[in-house]
Amino acid sequence: MLPKILVVDDDRYTRTLIEQMMRKTAEVHLAEDGAAARKLFAAVDFNLVLMDQRLPRDNGLELLREFRARRPKLVAILITGFADVRDAVAAVREGLFDYLTKPFEDLEALEAVIGKALELDRAYREIDSLRSRLAAEGAPDVVGQSPAMERLLDQIRQVAGLDTTVLLEGESGTGKDLIAKLIHTWSTRSSKPYLEVNCGGLPESLLESLLFGYEKGAFTGAGQANPGYFEKAHGGNLFLDEIADMSPKLQSSLLRVLQDHSFARIGSTQTRTTDFRLICATNRSLAGEVKAGGFREDLYYRINVVAVRLPPLREREGDIIRLAAHFLDHYNTKFGKECGPFTPAAVRALEACRWQGNVRELQHCIERVVALQPGGVIDAIHLNPTTDHRSEEGQPDSAAPAQALAYQDARAVFEREYLRRLLDGAGGNISEAARLSGIPRQNLYVRMKRWGFVTD
Ligand SMILES: Nc1ncnc2c1ncn2[C@@H]1O[C@H](COP(=O)(O)OP(=O)(O)OP(=O)(O)O)[C@@H](O)[C@H]1O
Ligand SMILES: [Mg+2]
Repeated sequence: MLPKILVVDDDRYTRTLIEQMMRKTAEVHLAEDGAAARKLFAAVDFNLVLMDQRLPRDNGLELLREFRARRPKLVAILITGFADVRDAVAAVREGLFDYLTKPFEDLEALEAVIGKALELDRAYREIDSLRSRLAAEGAPDVVGQSPAMERLLDQIRQVAGLDTTVLLEGESGTGKDLIAKLIHTWSTRSSKPYLEVNCGGLPESLLESLLFGYEKGAFTGAGQANPGYFEKAHGGNLFLDEIADMSPKLQSSLLRVLQDHSFARIGSTQTRTTDFRLICATNRSLAGEVKAGGFREDLYYRINVVAVRLPPLREREGDIIRLAAHFLDHYNTKFGKECGPFTPAAVRALEACRWQGNVRELQHCIERVVALQPGGVIDAIHLNPTTDHRSEEGQPDSAAPAQALAYQDARAVFEREYLRRLLDGAGGNISEAARLSGIPRQNLYVRMKRWGFVTD
């Protein structure tokens, strides 16, 4: 699209001169007085305004000030006679791009000044769009300062800018969705669409129509034509999650799309071209799936251009606590609470846990604690409530087995359980519980509060 220039001058010769000079490279609009200029300025988003200082009923500089009040980043050039140069110099100090003196002698210089002004406007607009893009996309919050994560993020930074297919492999909950989004944000396609679909979550026919799109009447229920993700992702990034779950039929269709960058909507023979960058993720080993015969080898080679392995949480030294603190912050804000900090015992318990569900499990654990606790420190026992869910092997999920606990942690486990039973036995009456246990009432109250058995 050509840049738009507004030339405001009552002198027809000047208007025509600039129009002739610029009409190949810009869309030039002309106004012979302030009224016409105001009307045009209100209707068109100009990239540059060239304004005569002396207009029949207006002062050009005043008019520019008026325009700049409405669009502070407006790039403008003032055209003056020799007599007005001092005004023009002052105007440049106010942020005007430049001034030109009439009569124009050096037409090349004139063209060069206009060219520079348009360049500046382009830069302003690029920065603005970059800012709003970053704010709108909100580059995801990725916590990870462990050596394993630093390495991963370095690798992501490198591949994000290339246009190559990326395969993300990692256990469930390691952050594959998050990293896929980050690749998009860091890619040169970040202002273009980002579409994601979980290949494991949809029946084959639905996934097919979602990806390929369809024409009206292509199947029962196809009331109107619908573009698919291959079309919608044009220019941007397409994230196919759980790619290993894709059916053999769709695997071969996808392979064809990747080979010729073209496809047809369901119910149509018209070939359409598309240009998207593919990001895939799997929590299984795709190579293993190929060996077992569940995944096409040729498609595997197409997808496996750059493979990135997301480390399980247990391999991210130091990140467990960083993530726990990050989620604590997040859920405190979300639930309007002030839980924390973690006691040393809690930190040990968090670090001792195997986190088979990786970051997602840790996130849910902290969410649960903050949701249930009225506030105050978070101790080991809060992380491992007696109603805890159990992992596949039947071990408590969120802390090491009792015999592996440090003495302090074991004491905490005992204390909580003891106090809970004590309070039950005393019918919820703290004075009675104090009498039964021999613990001074105030002391007992503080302990009860610490474990969240009493709220104020
Ligand atoms: N490094 C990280 N920093 C902050 N949050 C993270 C990080 N990694 C993961 N998360 C959060 O943990 C949760 C799980 O992450 P995500 O959904 O990306 O995992 P996944 O690998 O795609 O899991 P699955 O294989 O089950 O689909 C999300 O809420 C995500 O925001
Ligand atoms: Mg996922």
